[in-house]
Amino acid sequence: MRPTQAAFPATRLRRLRKSAALRDMVQENTLTPADFIWPVFVRDGENVVEPISSMPGVNRLSVDQVVKAAKDAHALGIPAICLFPYTDPSLKTEDCAEAWNPDNLSNRATRAIKDAVPDMAVMTDVALDPYNSNGHDGFVEDGYVVNDRTVEALVKQALSQARAGSDIIGPSDMMDGRIGALRGALEAEGHTNVALLSYSAKYASAFYGPFRDAVGASGALTGDKKGYQMNPGNSDEAMRLIERDLREGADMVMVKPGMPYLDICRRAKDMFGAPTFAYQVSGEYAMLAGASERGWLDGERAMMESLLCFKRAGCDGILTYFAPAAAKILNG
Ligand code: PBG
Repeated sequence: MRPTQAAFPATRLRRLRKSAALRDMVQENTLTPADFIWPVFVRDGENVVEPISSMPGVNRLSVDQVVKAAKDAHALGIPAICLFPYTDPSLKTEDCAEAWNPDNLSNRATRAIKDAVPDMAVMTDVALDPYNSNGHDGFVEDGYVVNDRTVEALVKQALSQARAGSDIIGPSDMMDGRIGALRGALEAEGHTNVALLSYSAKYASAFYGPFRDAVGASGALTGDKKGYQMNPGNSDEAMRLIERDLREGADMVMVKPGMPYLDICRRAKDMFGAPTFAYQVSGEYAMLAGASERGWLDGERAMMESLLCFKRAGCDGILTYFAPAAAKILNG
């Protein structure tokens, strides 16, 4: 697109920035609470709200508290909540069997939310890391995260989530072929309307640090995830991954992290036009919340600006830990 305009002074672009009324009138992108998916951390126990030190303002919640949080989020107009379990270390094993236990934390939380707030969409995470004694998203054999055997386990995990009532399954593991395998298994078992939001372009990022604390995976992780997550230097590869996932049956795609990867969001939206989401990850949250706590940034303004930028970059929605705080501001 190449806007046509007269030369100065016939055109003065500042005319439309003169007052709030005019600025609002020509604003190209807007945020609403419906743009948010809210990631929450679930832990065992009852009536527990446990702060996470590297994510000021974010807590691990017991299932009853997650239900309360889901009700509040629903009242704010947030359409979806995404569950991440903090798994007791004693349940982390090399075979990761807890991942498909019908009564694991994630599945219990899903059932409780769907019972209490049926209109709230529940998204669940598919990857083995919360259940793996070595912290990786897949099975490790001879120091390598193996693909095909991992995909078989991911299918079992996703089916257990679908049976528990998950509306959106988010594979965050970055194995090859998992979208096709998951879609086939969901169809075969009659879960025809369970949506797949694929973490298609997930980079091996330093910005996941606080999340790994939050789910208790930092201590467990041996090595790094560069053998399956993307190289931050690549952009064309992201388009290949997104195209492949759409062809295998993904309903929506995701770019992760968010703010450092807005170029990837824009390219993805322009190239494929599919529902595109960005994950404003834990490290992005920690930077903004930490600086705001120290008085180095106007936290509210920085939060709202960071979220609006995702819309400008072409995203249809954002996974963000700021979801309730931002929704409150948007609702006035
Ligand atoms: C793991 C997973 C990660 C995040 C979501 N799912 C971390 C990782 O890949 O190590 C990160 C989210 C965040 O940082 O907020 N399957």
